[in-house]
Amino acid sequence: MKPKTALVTGASRGIGRAIAVQLALDGFRVAVHYHSNRSAAEETLGAVRGNEHVLLCANLTEPDGAGALAGAALKECNGRVDVLVHNAGVYLPTPLLENEDFKTWQRDVRTHMQLNFLAGADLAYLLAPAMAEAGWGRIIQIASRAGLRGEARFSGYSASKAAQINFTKSLAVELAPRGIGCFAIAPGWVATEMSAEALAREGNEIRAGIPAGRVAAPEEIAQLVSYLVTPAADYLTGNTIDINGASYLH
Ligand SMILES: NC(=O)c1ccc[n+]([C@@H]2O[C@H](COP(=O)([O-])OP(=O)(O)OC[C@H]3O[C@@H](n4cnc5c(N)ncnc54)[C@H](OP(=O)(O)O)[C@@H]3O)[C@@H](O)[C@H]2O)c1
Repeated sequence: MKPKTALVTGASRGIGRAIAVQLALDGFRVAVHYHSNRSAAEETLGAVRGNEHVLLCANLTEPDGAGALAGAALKECNGRVDVLVHNAGVYLPTPLLENEDFKTWQRDVRTHMQLNFLAGADLAYLLAPAMAEAGWGRIIQIASRAGLRGEARFSGYSASKAAQINFTKSLAVELAPRGIGCFAIAPGWVATEMSAEALAREGNEIRAGIPAGRVAAPEEIAQLVSYLVTPAADYLTGNTIDINGASYLH
C-alpha cells in the first residue's frame, strides 16, 4: 500500500517542523512547505525519517499562493493529499491606540487574515475533493487560544485564529459524511521563534499565568496532530482542542 500523504504549511521551523517530523514517524509522506527560509526547511527535511518527503515553497500572503501550493502538492502526491495541516502563520501587534497609522493597521490586519485564515481555507477548498473521492481525509488548522478568548493589542491575529476555528466547524459538518475529519488546535504559548521575543521580555509573567507553570514544546502540539490523524479521532470531528496548561478553560 502507498503511504498516505500530508501537507504541512510553515514546516521550516517551530510547530510546523515538529508536526512534519511526527507525521513522517507515523508513516506519512510529508510535503514540507516553507516561504522564506529554505535552509531551515532543508533542516526539517533532514530531520524527518525517510527520504521520500518533498520541500514546497510558496508565499501564502499572496492571494494566489495557496493555489500554487495546492497544485504543486497534488502533483508531488499523485493527485491526493490525505492530510492538510495549515500551520503557517504570523503574529503581529495591531494596537488601536498606539500611533499605528491607518495604512499599517490595514496592512497588518489583512496580512493576518490572508496568511493565517484565507490561505488555509483556499487549501482546504482545493484539497478536499480528492479526500472526498477517497472517502478519508483530515483538515487541521493550527489556531490559537487567542482565537477563543481574544488578546489585547493582537485583535488582527486573534480574529484570524477565530476564523480558522469557525471555518473548521462548518467544514466538519459539511465533510463528515465524506469521511473527512476537521479539527482546530488552540495552543497557548509554545516555545518557538514566534514567541521568543515575548518570552524573553515577559517570560515570568507569562508562566505565572499558566497553571502548568511552563510553556508548551512544539512536540506536544505535534503529538496531538498525530492522534487526530488516527481513526480513533474520527468521531471527534469539528472540535477545537485546547492545549494550554489550563491557562484558559471554557
Ligand atoms: N508559538 C506560539 O506560542 C503559538 C501559540 C499559539 C498558536 N501558534 C500558531 O502556531 C503556528 C506556528 O507557529 P510557530 O510558533 O511555529 O511560528 P514560527 O516559528 O514563527 O514559524 C512560522 C512559519 O510560518 C511560515 N510563514 C511565515 N510567513 C509566511 C508566508 N508569507 N507564507 C508562507 N509561510 C509563511 C514560516 O516560513 P519561513 O520560515 O520559510 O518564512 C514558518 O515556517 C502559527 O499559526 C501560530 O499562530 C503559535
